[in-house]
Amino acid sequence: MSKNDGIRKTLLVALSLCIVCSVVVSTAAVLLKPAQDVNRTLDRKRNILAAAGMLEEGVPVDEQFAQVQTRVVDLRTGEFSDAVDISNYDQLKAAKNPAQSQNLAGDDDIAQIGRREHYAPVYLVETEDGELDKVILPIRGYGLWSTLHGFIALEADGNTVAGLGFYDHGETPGLGGEVDNPRWKAQWPGKQVYRDGEVEIALAKGSVDSASPLAQWRVDGLSGATLTSRGVSQLVQFWLGEQGFEPFLSKLKAGEA
Ligand SMILES: Cc1cc2nc3c(=O)[nH]c(=O)nc-3n(C[C@H](O)[C@H](O)[C@H](O)COP(=O)(O)O)c2cc1C
Repeated sequence: MSKNDGIRKTLLVALSLCIVCSVVVSTAAVLLKPAQDVNRTLDRKRNILAAAGMLEEGVPVDEQFAQVQTRVVDLRTGEFSDAVDISNYDQLKAAKNPAQSQNLAGDDDIAQIGRREHYAPVYLVETEDGELDKVILPIRGYGLWSTLHGFIALEADGNTVAGLGFYDHGETPGLGGEVDNPRWKAQWPGKQVYRDGEVEIALAKGSVDSASPLAQWRVDGLSGATLTSRGVSQLVQFWLGEQGFEPFLSKLKAGEA
């Protein structure tokens, strides 16, 4: 047996290797964190602009986002609020904290999110004349396999959809994952949300019949993905409904937010 074959030496080499590797990995994690945070913020801005159909390739995202104003809304009152600092407010973390959210159950939880945070960020875009042009709202809810996270953009009337996009979900590519298909997303702009004050927008079963009196409130269902389609309908209805941004949109239109 060579003098390097002993159990003590083997353990010593394994231990030293573990220590060196863990130091390298944790140093990399610490050093890369600021860059990851910057990229995460940039990605969020890109998704907000994309949902509103405002993303221009080749133009720096920060430059484009300069036309977007971020505010916080108290979902309980529908009014703008300064109660949380948007620069370090984590909406999803707040939704898990009983002090910063409220429990949802039964018909109140059609998006299947369990709890709804008190405060949500909203993104406002103004025309050159300082008039409201678009409002972009964060939305989320359960599909078949996952919670889908995204944004819906509305025109200044608070009723006409300007666009929709999801930036995170675990639905099956080719089935529920078709929520990312640009051709499906292209149907959303121009659709109406409310009918006689109630949320009417939904995904159709199959394709939208353009002759149907409800056509302006319907988007094609995702083929082979009835459950994801139902989830998308319900999450959109939740966030544009009374538990979501409806009180805020009403006040915004009336100039009372
Ligand atoms: C591997 C696999 C992945 C699936 N992924 C989805 C999905 O992402 N979304 C969905 O609604 N249904 C998905 N389905 C289908 C559902 O299980 C279910 O059959 C379907 O939603 C029923 O509605 P349909 O009439 O659209 O088929 C998947 C099925 C299989 C076998």
